[in-house]
Amino acid sequence: MNPPEKIIIVAMTKSGVIGCGENLPWHIPEDLRRFRELTSGHTLVMGRRTFFAIGRPLPERRNLVVSTRLGETHGIEICRSFEAVLENAQGRGGRVFFIGGRTIYQQALPIANEMIVSWVREDHRGDVFFPPVDWGLWQAQSIEQHQRFSLVHYRRTEKGNGCRSGLREP
Ligand SMILES: NC(=O)c1ccc[n+]([C@@H]2O[C@H](COP(=O)([O-])OP(=O)(O)OC[C@H]3O[C@@H](n4cnc5c(N)ncnc54)[C@H](OP(=O)(O)O)[C@@H]3O)[C@@H](O)[C@H]2O)c1
Repeated sequence: MNPPEKIIIVAMTKSGVIGCGENLPWHIPEDLRRFRELTSGHTLVMGRRTFFAIGRPLPERRNLVVSTRLGETHGIEICRSFEAVLENAQGRGGRVFFIGGRTIYQQALPIANEMIVSWVREDHRGDVFFPPVDWGLWQAQSIEQHQRFSLVHYRRTEKGNGCRSGLREP
């Protein structure tokens, strides 16, 4: 079986804001709909704070929650370390989506093959930021324009491709 596709999926502003306290700083139903379409039937990996903010397992997907202290909870699988996440995902094939928050993005960035970013057009204040990215390692494959965001699908290019400007945020 092929190793799983490892995909970061995130919504952020141009300045990298992804959260405000426990929550998203925006409510964009169209983005939530695309998130559901893209991730349905696949595996999700989230940090314990993000799981608490969502408040329930997301249906029609495997929910892996990374936590050192969360007790057994109906509808989720708990991983006690990031290594445990990778071991769990290995050998199952399919797609593994890293859905946040910041701590999960930080650990997933070095190993992800793909990244799906909803670039939110409005500016929003927040106190949780996406970790720094070397955009030279990521090449945009497709762009979908929506009213309040652009959804850009990036693939990792190991050598970098000199596309640092222009492709990052359409
Ligand atoms: N814009 C977006 O697309 C998006 C998506 C998701 C989340 N967010 C935002 O991101 C923010 C939350 O992010 P966050 O970084 O504060 O929290 P988080 O990543 O959701 O959760 C952090 C927790 O995950 C657990 N964890 C992480 N790495 C671990 C490891 N290697 N081993 C064991 N446990 C591990 C720990 O839980 P324990 O303390 O239980 O050990 C840690 O406290 C919120 O503002 C949320 O709204 C934004």
